[in-house]
Amino acid sequence: MRSVKKLFIETLGCAMNTRDSEHMIAELQSKENYEITDDAKSADLILINTCSVRDKPVQKLFSEIGVYKKLKKKGAKIGVCGCTASHLGDAIFKRAPSVDFVLGARNVSKISEAVNTPKFIDVAIDYDESNFAFSEFRASPYKAYINISIGCDKQCTYCIVPHTRGEEISIPLELIIAEATKAANSGAKEIFLLGQNVNNYGRRFSTNSDKKIDFSDLLDAISQIDAVQRIRFTSPHPLHMDDKFLNTFANNPKVCKSMHMPLQSGSTRILDGMKRGYSKEWFLNRALKLREMIDDVSISTDIIVGFPGESDADFEDTMDVLEQVKFEQIFAFKYSPRPLTKAATFDNQVDPLIAAARLDRLQKRQDEILDAIALSKQDKILQVYFEELRSSGFIAGRSDNNALVQVKASDSVLGQTHNVLITNPKRLSLYGQIVD
Ligand code: 5AD
Ligand code: SF4
Repeated sequence: MRSVKKLFIETLGCAMNTRDSEHMIAELQSKENYEITDDAKSADLILINTCSVRDKPVQKLFSEIGVYKKLKKKGAKIGVCGCTASHLGDAIFKRAPSVDFVLGARNVSKISEAVNTPKFIDVAIDYDESNFAFSEFRASPYKAYINISIGCDKQCTYCIVPHTRGEEISIPLELIIAEATKAANSGAKEIFLLGQNVNNYGRRFSTNSDKKIDFSDLLDAISQIDAVQRIRFTSPHPLHMDDKFLNTFANNPKVCKSMHMPLQSGSTRILDGMKRGYSKEWFLNRALKLREMIDDVSISTDIIVGFPGESDADFEDTMDVLEQVKFEQIFAFKYSPRPLTKAATFDNQVDPLIAAARLDRLQKRQDEILDAIALSKQDKILQVYFEELRSSGFIAGRSDNNALVQVKASDSVLGQTHNVLITNPKRLSLYGQIVD
């Protein structure tokens, strides 16, 4: 029997990376006899699954490699994977010779080969993994992340992702249904669909199919699986939020009523510069229509402040959308110029101090909005699916519309859905008691 080796993995970035890490763990467990450890010192393999969407984590990568190089045991390997691997490629070996292999975000299926080949590198962004049958591993038994597409066909001028994950290819419906059925039957009642641009599903498959299918059809097909109770997804694009999609979202009872709508900017002029393909009015029309169609829908968003050319008036447009939509959650970032992107070449970059002040104002106003939203949940009853053990006896779960809810209970409630009376609503988490 081969001896068991230990794998330490650090995952940065988005849900897509989380799932890529699960795929790499699965391949290494089933084909290379690795088991996971959370102690880097004892690991035989240290993997860093990187993100390159902003500059800071990329800068941190090399100091991190230095730390791992010092603490790793003799003979242990270091692998760099993910978006920064795709983006920097060979330059990683040059800057950090202690790295043993470099594996891009679109090459994760080659992880076995990577660990067995000295100085392995594969960062090809035209590699097609859309039909690859990965081995099975899920970090949570209660929730299953499932990829529905790889890559991204948009050309947002600020974004490095098309250069790290390549063109968009949808994963065949049969593979997704088989994966969702298997996961749900083994206890993952919540299915979380992943793609850069999920509501563009079905536009291109790697093998030609005359079957026409779109994202709404996919949601309906998954909801036919008996054991699936909840379906979530990220990220949809506001441009592709047509009426068919909104109707399916509103009317399919298994689709959770929480929508991520990445705004990026509230100014139509800036949205044009970003090449987002929609206007402030379109975004507001879709978001307010969702509010009208569904009583307790929650809407989250991503916002970039300080995009090249953003004036005070443009920023006021973003603040105006914040007021009108009252998002339940925002992820706000200062614009970070990225190599290979169009916007990095624009000559009207915003003073970082101005961008920082705008970000601060945005976040302060959002905190007030969140306090008011939390207060409105006092004494409400929410249906919560429990999925995570927290510190000091709390069990955490999510309401259908994605509010984080915590109760003191025994861990037997994990994997179950209960009604919870909210007794102590806070900005970041609602606390309550199970009532049935
Ligand atoms: N600078 C700042 N934020 C960015 N994002 C993507 N690219 C950049 C960039 N160059 C943000 C977007 C995206 C989220 C994942 O990261 O808001 O939706
Ligand atoms: Fe995810 Fe984008 Fe970061 Fe890649 S660059 S890990 S796609 S957020």
